[in-house]
Amino acid sequence: MAGKRFHLGWFTPFGTTGWNNPLEQTEEPWDGRFYLDMAQALERACFDLIMLEDSLSISEVHGGSMEAYLRHGLMAPKNDPAPLAALIGASTTRLGVASTLSTLAYQPFALARLCSTLDHISHGRFGWNIVTSPAEASARNFGLDHLPPRQERYDIADEYVDLVKKLFESWEPDAVVRDLATNTYADAKRVHKVHYEGKYFRCEGPLNTVRCPQGRPAFLQAGGSPRGRRFAATHADCIVAVADGVAGMKAYRDDVRRYAVAAGRDPDQIKVLFLAAPILGNTMAEALERDERDYGSPSFIEGALALYGSLTDIDFSQFDLDVELPYLTTNGEQGALDKFGQWGSGKTLRQLAKESGTSSSVRLVGTPDSVADEMGAIMDEVGGDGFLIITPLMRVTRRYIGEVTEGLVPALQRRGRVRTGYTKSTLRETLLEF
Ligand SMILES: Cc1cc2nc3c(=O)[nH]c(=O)nc-3n(C[C@H](O)[C@H](O)[C@H](O)COP(=O)(O)O)c2cc1C
Repeated sequence: MAGKRFHLGWFTPFGTTGWNNPLEQTEEPWDGRFYLDMAQALERACFDLIMLEDSLSISEVHGGSMEAYLRHGLMAPKNDPAPLAALIGASTTRLGVASTLSTLAYQPFALARLCSTLDHISHGRFGWNIVTSPAEASARNFGLDHLPPRQERYDIADEYVDLVKKLFESWEPDAVVRDLATNTYADAKRVHKVHYEGKYFRCEGPLNTVRCPQGRPAFLQAGGSPRGRRFAATHADCIVAVADGVAGMKAYRDDVRRYAVAAGRDPDQIKVLFLAAPILGNTMAEALERDERDYGSPSFIEGALALYGSLTDIDFSQFDLDVELPYLTTNGEQGALDKFGQWGSGKTLRQLAKESGTSSSVRLVGTPDSVADEMGAIMDEVGGDGFLIITPLMRVTRRYIGEVTEGLVPALQRRGRVRTGYTKSTLRETLLEF
């Protein structure tokens, strides 16, 4: 008997694509058409959603300068994902589209209005990835000398989400009456000010957009630290995570589900998706060779260190590549650092970079059939709820999209492990379908 179905999403920045791949030289991605084609391929493959990453600065963490990031075209440059979410939402009919929007970058009112607009444009398929922007350089772009400490960032974010929810609710579901007899578009008695006076934010409201199709967009979040997990479990419809291996995935999911219960929520109303970067080949030998060739090169190792540097605010260029990494903590992404560091494993920094550079929670290397079997077995062990596909160094290529959507997904569908069609119209309903 087939195991339970699970969900698929794909995580990508609106960034450089396969610019250094000789087979992918035809285009620059900045007009969004590459990502629009990608979204349509994901919809044909019945993904639940495409999730757009974002950050708000060009990192200077690796080697103390922007050089490595710009040379590799890594995490920079990137375009703003919100207009791309609109383009995708307007050009697809079933695929969910989530965009990262930072509490650092927007006042709550502006964010609620933008999210509501995107939910309208996508007819109820928009999701907001709630982030607090854990990079010091981003804080400096928004007039701060330093980021608030993580604890306070999440305290601010709790209040932020509380206010944003009130703004979404400021229009009653039936506020738009369109009554020709009385010449009334919206009934003012059903649109309410929020009069919010918090510790960090004040806002009068109401929102000046009509209530959006989902009432509020689906909320996504990726808390890694205990405080971050509590935040995610309190607010999110979908939690996205990177974990260390199958045991780490299971422990993470069990943990956020416990936090959800403590917050008075039904944990089955939250879907946990784990980052995975399958390395596929026509044969196992071909997949293994690609894994070694593409992800063991000095250029990949440097890219992986620079990438994890930007996520964790730690300059890994200061450490010897062939020595074990000392235990580290950060005010940046602790979850990413813990996954990267594999504390106590005795692995050298070079090994860690090779293994973690793909950002995969588990190593998945093989043919579509063998990887589909592994993914199913992993989900059976973890308990749910799906995978969030990512490309190594977050650099997506047409070839890789084709391998996943035309090779791996059909193998998963043949096994009855992922959806073969959509039955719901909104992103939240699609996520909650199973
Ligand atoms: C799958 C995944 C996606 C994330 N996407 C973003 C993003 O687009 N932008 C961002 O600033 N942070 C992003 N983060 C970072 C999280 O918001 C969070 O800061 C991180 O998981 C560390 O958790 P902590 O703040 O509890 O330490 C992502 C993390 C994960 C695991």
